[in-house]
Amino acid sequence: MRYNPDLPFGIIDPGIAPRVIGQVGQTLDGRVATPTGRSLYINGQCALAHLHRLRAGVDAVVVGVGTIIADDPRLTVRLCDGASPARVVIDPNGRIPPDARCLKDGVARTLLLNRQGHAESGENRITIPAAPDGRLAPAAVLAALARRGFRRILIEGGPTTLSHFLQEGVMDELHIMVAPKIFGSGRAGISLPPIDTLEEALVPAAQSYLFEDGDVLFQCDLTRKR
Ligand SMILES: NC(=O)c1ccc[n+]([C@@H]2O[C@H](COP(=O)([O-])OP(=O)(O)OC[C@H]3O[C@@H](n4cnc5c(N)ncnc54)[C@H](OP(=O)(O)O)[C@@H]3O)[C@@H](O)[C@H]2O)c1
Repeated sequence: MRYNPDLPFGIIDPGIAPRVIGQVGQTLDGRVATPTGRSLYINGQCALAHLHRLRAGVDAVVVGVGTIIADDPRLTVRLCDGASPARVVIDPNGRIPPDARCLKDGVARTLLLNRQGHAESGENRITIPAAPDGRLAPAAVLAALARRGFRRILIEGGPTTLSHFLQEGVMDELHIMVAPKIFGSGRAGISLPPIDTLEEALVPAAQSYLFEDGDVLFQCDLTRKR
């Protein structure tokens, strides 16, 4: 079906539990960046506008520190109406560059999520105990954000962050925006533990939308199987 920008996308009623949407912009061969980390911009303007609409519908947009270092994104709402959500950077070891735009521009609040022991919690800093593998458990991240009043969450990437949340089963929806391009090399958007049989594949209920400029959106409902 053709994409209609008047359709309501994003999270309208978060209910009691956090509602979590993931997004990824990728090529036909599932790449989200070249081998040297370039990803701006894989998708066309329509998909970018859709991403801004998703941002406008949430309380907080979450990225890993790798995305901040690679792209220095603003993570604000500019291509549609609506307020910019809080920006949350998962940065267990405090690697965020001090001059990152999301720390400097003052457009929206930015919170840093560090592992416990790295820094003290504060107004804009949340600390979470790390698992033995160094990860901050996605459920613990969502619980900490919910305690601060952030219940509608967009996991914007990158691939490490998105894959953690998908693997842990804490995501309700995944929006995959596919550009008709083939890189043939580079970072995969989603990496999960290997499966052996096709029956083990994740097969969410999905609706596809054709954007005017040729990109395609797959809106996957991870709470329902096809
Ligand atoms: N096409 C797209 O939609 C899209 C979107 C975003 C980014 N990108 C591309 O993706 C690339 C970056 O990939 P990436 O995988 O490095 O990005 P990332 O997911 O933003 O950052 C990964 C880093 O964030 C921290 N992190 C994330 N989740 C964590 C968790 N649950 N527990 C502990 N630490 C966690 C870790 O930091 P430490 O290493 O410090 O432990 C990890 O190495 C760039 O090339 C960027 O352009 C593409």
